[in-house]
Amino acid sequence: MALVANGIGRSFRRVEVLRGVDLAVEPGEFVTIGGPSGSGKSALLSILCGFDRPDVGSVLIRDEELDGAPSWQRCAVLPQALGLAGELTLAENTALPLLLTGSPEARSRSVAVLAELGIGDLADRYPNEVSYGQQQRAALARAIVVEPAVLLADEPTAHVDHASAEVVLTVLRRVADRGTAVIAATHDPRVHAVADRRLRLDKGRLVA
Ligand SMILES: Nc1ncnc2c1ncn2[C@@H]1O[C@H](COP(=O)(O)OP(=O)(O)OP(=O)(O)O)[C@@H](O)[C@H]1O
Ligand SMILES: [Mg+2]
Repeated sequence: MALVANGIGRSFRRVEVLRGVDLAVEPGEFVTIGGPSGSGKSALLSILCGFDRPDVGSVLIRDEELDGAPSWQRCAVLPQALGLAGELTLAENTALPLLLTGSPEARSRSVAVLAELGIGDLADRYPNEVSYGQQQRAALARAIVVEPAVLLADEPTAHVDHASAEVVLTVLRRVADRGTAVIAATHDPRVHAVADRRLRLDKGRLVA
């Protein structure tokens, strides 16, 4: 399995948001997580990528238990709040994970991934010089540039127009088909439609 979560529980201010979440995702599988606003989708993704620790339960990525945030190659994230560095261009933001691995072709690979997402011409702009939907695609580019074992995408189509959403969906599907386990939290039926398996958070548990 690419990712296994066992019995994840998490409370905030004594409110039990997650209560026994179990999940196992294979390499190349595309899973969506639905559920109403506030049901805990982002909270769960934060735990799956090691940004937050569960009160109970464990997460394994490629059979190794998480103890803090794993490397970007093991688990890359498209956060709901994007988190692009404003001091860096889109190409530089996208290249960051590659620079950390010492990849010599960081720039060319970054621009190629941005182009795959339809924003290659914006590679040398700064985040505040492009739209929020374009920033979202750059944050997705940064997540997939290293071909991670697991990709966690929080609302990947939330800010993009119809045509760009189609591009994002095609790219997410392609990333899964190349072997990455893709887990996307979404309200968007178009994302659910391209997934292999659709789950939803209901009363703190994942159900089919
Ligand atoms: N760090 C935190 N501190 C306190 N409460 C939190 C924290 N993180 C999440 N929560 C609470 O947990 C619940 C779930 O939030 P979460 O952001 O996971 O929802 P969501 O399903 O992602 O919603 P949306 O669809 O709006 O993105 C909410 O009630 C939220 O207020
Ligand atoms: Mg959320």
